Amino acid sequence: MSETKQPVIGIIGGSGLYNIEGLTDTRWEKVETPWGAPSDELLIGQFHGTKVVFLPRHGRGHKLSPSSLNYRANIDALKRVGVTDIISMSAVGSLKEELPPGHFVIVDQFIDRSFAREKSFFGPGCVAHVSMAHPTCARIGDALEDSMKALGLNYTRGGTYLVMEGPQFSTLAESNLYRSWGCSVIGMTNMPEAKLAREAEMDYATVAMVTDYDCWHEDHDAVTVDQVVKVLLGNADKARSVVKEVLPRLSAPRPVCPHGCDTALQYALITAPEA
Ligand code: ADE
Repeated sequence: MSETKQPVIGIIGGSGLYNIEGLTDTRWEKVETPWGAPSDELLIGQFHGTKVVFLPRHGRGHKLSPSSLNYRANIDALKRVGVTDIISMSAVGSLKEELPPGHFVIVDQFIDRSFAREKSFFGPGCVAHVSMAHPTCARIGDALEDSMKALGLNYTRGGTYLVMEGPQFSTLAESNLYRSWGCSVIGMTNMPEAKLAREAEMDYATVAMVTDYDCWHEDHDAVTVDQVVKVLLGNADKARSVVKEVLPRLSAPRPVCPHGCDTALQYALITAPEA
């Protein structure tokens, strides 16, 4: 019989996400890691028998900028409380006409242009190279797609998320460059999250929630925080309903990922074991 694991679902996102109807036995728990402190305490609860863990990516009250997030501590804290599957919910700008504000994208690729962040659990002394060819989990993607379909949401399956360093938004030349690369959406947070989740052998998927057309669209003003927040608040109900729909779809014991998300380290270590 092939091996299965009981999933524990981790959700990284904004603070509007926690009031999920049906989430019981909730408690905020402080988790310490060797990498330092995560963005906040973790909200741990049960959803019809499945353990669910929420992490406010920027901390409650949105105090941390994308560059100052401790991505390693965030992923490690989730791993320490048993999370196996991560759904990352993120506000993004759109780089395509057909992805208007309010649209959701189940991202399947990333281009990482961030440069001021710690990106690996490995380093001098123990070197590892995990595969990032397919950075997101198709099984979680399927569950998200089924959920969005059931809710009648406007969504797109598949798309490339350009991760910029920020905190400033892009110049017009940058925005047009990323469009010429075929990118779908732009944001500041999902890398190195996805890389670290892979190193930690956790399955990872992103729901990118479009808030603006960045600055390239001639019929729309260049993005401002005001606009992002306005659309984001409008999206909060939709985001919560996606979470509520997707949890039952992910709660059954599942096979070990056939694409290697759960076993990414098996052939990744290059440092020879010490004699
Ligand atoms: N988050 C939301 N909109 C964004 C944009 N246009 N660029 C970068 N991050 C974003």
